[in-house]
Amino acid sequence: MRAAVAVRIDPQDPVSAIELKDGWPEPEPRPGDVRIRVAATTVNMHDLWTLRGVGVAPGSFPKILGCDIVGWDPDGHEVLVTGAFGDLDAGGGDETLDPRRALVSEDRPGSFGEYTVVPARNVIAKPAWLSFREAACLNVGWSTTYRALFTRGRAQPGERILIQGAGGGVSTAAIAMARAAGLQVIVTSRSEDKRRRALELGAHQAIAPGERLAEPADLVVDTVGAATWNHSLRSLRPGGRIVTSGATTGSDIALDLPRIFYRQLSVIGSTSATRAETLRMLRFMEAANLRPVIDSVYPLERIRDAFVRTQQPDLFGNVVVDVAS
Ligand SMILES: NC(=O)c1ccc[n+]([C@@H]2O[C@H](COP(=O)([O-])OP(=O)(O)OC[C@H]3O[C@@H](n4cnc5c(N)ncnc54)[C@H](OP(=O)(O)O)[C@@H]3O)[C@@H](O)[C@H]2O)c1
Repeated sequence: MRAAVAVRIDPQDPVSAIELKDGWPEPEPRPGDVRIRVAATTVNMHDLWTLRGVGVAPGSFPKILGCDIVGWDPDGHEVLVTGAFGDLDAGGGDETLDPRRALVSEDRPGSFGEYTVVPARNVIAKPAWLSFREAACLNVGWSTTYRALFTRGRAQPGERILIQGAGGGVSTAAIAMARAAGLQVIVTSRSEDKRRRALELGAHQAIAPGERLAEPADLVVDTVGAATWNHSLRSLRPGGRIVTSGATTGSDIALDLPRIFYRQLSVIGSTSATRAETLRMLRFMEAANLRPVIDSVYPLERIRDAFVRTQQPDLFGNVVVDVAS
């Protein structure tokens, strides 16, 4: 099959470690797996972290990355693959909490190849009201954000939420879902143009990073990490919650323990999403008429350009890759 293969760890030049290969062996399904012909996918920070050697064994290369999978099952049905490959019982009813759970592309090939294999339980029907390209944005950008906002963050209508960063798949999904769920939405961005686009997407207010909030937030969603952490903590009301589910600018932060305990703040981690959360989110998106923001689309042959695009400062939404021609 044709595949874009990550051939090595390369912290300095991760994109150069992606090579397009023809005749790459098709993955072998394990018992209980379903073979998927991939239609489209996205490029995500997780792929870049892996290429840089974060959270991956050097011996696992060459490997196929790509964390969003939409395509066709062996019967030709249009399907979408949900995020965490884990055992429901081992996770106490939540597969993302199975100590042995894997994310897409971690223990099986990802979506940067014509075919992949996934556990049958993770395959759900792609809604007809979403295109393949739109559905390709859901697993990493949207489902994980749904869990961060509503399951882990316990977002409630009428609350004030601060979302750090305006351009990525997570923040664009967070703005759209928080607005639709009736929250007061404040977004930060370094870019004036992205602040304008965040307002168009549904934010009530868009401010520069570090700017003091007129009124403190009940909830902060921070996936930026080191660059915004202090501002996130300072922006919360006493008793407020911060959900952390990423660290794009690094994780070397001072926790500010006195602020956390004196002001009784809750710091909440969130990763991936369950199958049930994805199904619920799809109903929410349909009811509220929400659609992912697509920044740009590349064919698999130009996957290196897609990786470069994800790192450009004017990125707004998801970078989609068409895998099926
Ligand atoms: N745990 C999970 O399950 C999960 C799932 C999905 C994603 N993630 C993680 O979440 C993070 C976000 O991913 P993403 O793909 O949505 O977006 P991304 O491309 O990593 O960018 C997110 C935001 O970071 C902001 N940013 C970057 N550098 C900054 C700086 N120096 N100062 C202030 N802001 C800065 C940008 O805001 P502006 O340019 O607007 O200022 C941008 O909107 C990643 O680290 C990813 O690995 C985790």
